Amino acid sequence: MTEKFTALQVMQDAPVIPVIVLNDLAHAVPMARALVAGGVRMLEVTLRTPQALACIEAIAKHVPEAVVGAGTVRNKTDAQAAANAGARFAVSPGYTSAVGQACRDLGLALLPGVATGSEIMMAQEEGFTELKFFPAMQSGGPAMLKAWSGPFFDVRFCPTGGVSLQNTSEFLALPNVVCVGGSWLVPADAIAKGDWAKITRLASDTAALRK
Ligand code: 3PG
Repeated sequence: MTEKFTALQVMQDAPVIPVIVLNDLAHAVPMARALVAGGVRMLEVTLRTPQALACIEAIAKHVPEAVVGAGTVRNKTDAQAAANAGARFAVSPGYTSAVGQACRDLGLALLPGVATGSEIMMAQEEGFTELKFFPAMQSGGPAMLKAWSGPFFDVRFCPTGGVSLQNTSEFLALPNVVCVGGSWLVPADAIAKGDWAKITRLASDTAALRK
């Protein structure tokens, strides 16, 4: 039986969840191994390319040390396809009741995206208290999270969008931030060249920034 994770456990595993875009199935397994070697094992593979689901399936099958999830889950069909491929958590760029319900029905931990107070209230009303703040830098960055810590004192965030190794510490220092998300650990050129050592280095540099 595969171990189940809650959204909070997904967020607490490492200081970062990499946001991964894969264009080639052959890259999936070595890239996942490179991230795990750097201490990052919760991997968000975005459903943005035709190969994404096959990549999730390959990682789930061949890299048991990793916990693969699906990103860019925007509707029930995405959630179902992600679960069928072996995704163990889902990340969505926004929140709808349909996505929330689909993930609940599938037993898939969901980290829903929010950028406004109303969206937080809606997600919270439907049982989600661990949320992705997206797009974080474009929507107000750390200052926005500080403002939200008053009214939304019981919500915890994973800021994503414009986050980098340079500003991760500033986010992690906030009490309502559990981890950050971002694509900088998995640069497209490093993936294309198969520079797995670079990806391991970027992952371990970030994993060292403990909360
Ligand atoms: C995304 O969904 O594209 C992520 O938020 C990644 O943002 P980043 O490329 O700014 O890290």
